[in-house]
Amino acid sequence: LSKIEVKLADIPEGRNMTFKWRGKPLFVRHRTEKEIATEEGVNLADLRDPQHDKDRVQNPKWVIVLGVCTHLGCVPIANAGDWGGYYCPCHGSHYDASGRIRKGPAPLNLEVPFYEFVGEDMVVVG
Ligand code: FES
Repeated sequence: LSKIEVKLADIPEGRNMTFKWRGKPLFVRHRTEKEIATEEGVNLADLRDPQHDKDRVQNPKWVIVLGVCTHLGCVPIANAGDWGGYYCPCHGSHYDASGRIRKGPAPLNLEVPFYEFVGEDMVVVG
């Protein structure tokens, strides 16, 4: 399927759920207030691939990214690593809770796909 609908009410705060979209893992993360505040406060000078959190999300509660490590394509683990976002166990890349690369060999942030919120509780990706 070229598009996927995700029902947001099924994803509790603090959790990341993985879906399959166009043959790839898709992460949908329901961020906590603390995660939102932390990611909004990150200094761009500290980032390898500098991007503001607000340029990566449409609604700060929801991070929607491809679950494909930008190093060699492994699937990172959610809520792990030194920044508590994602950790790729293949060669040790650490991503924050905005999906931005913070440490390890990956060169780029996790990719944000095209998506749209539909109503209160649904996002359509693709
Ligand atoms: Fe993720 Fe190498 S594939 S660190």
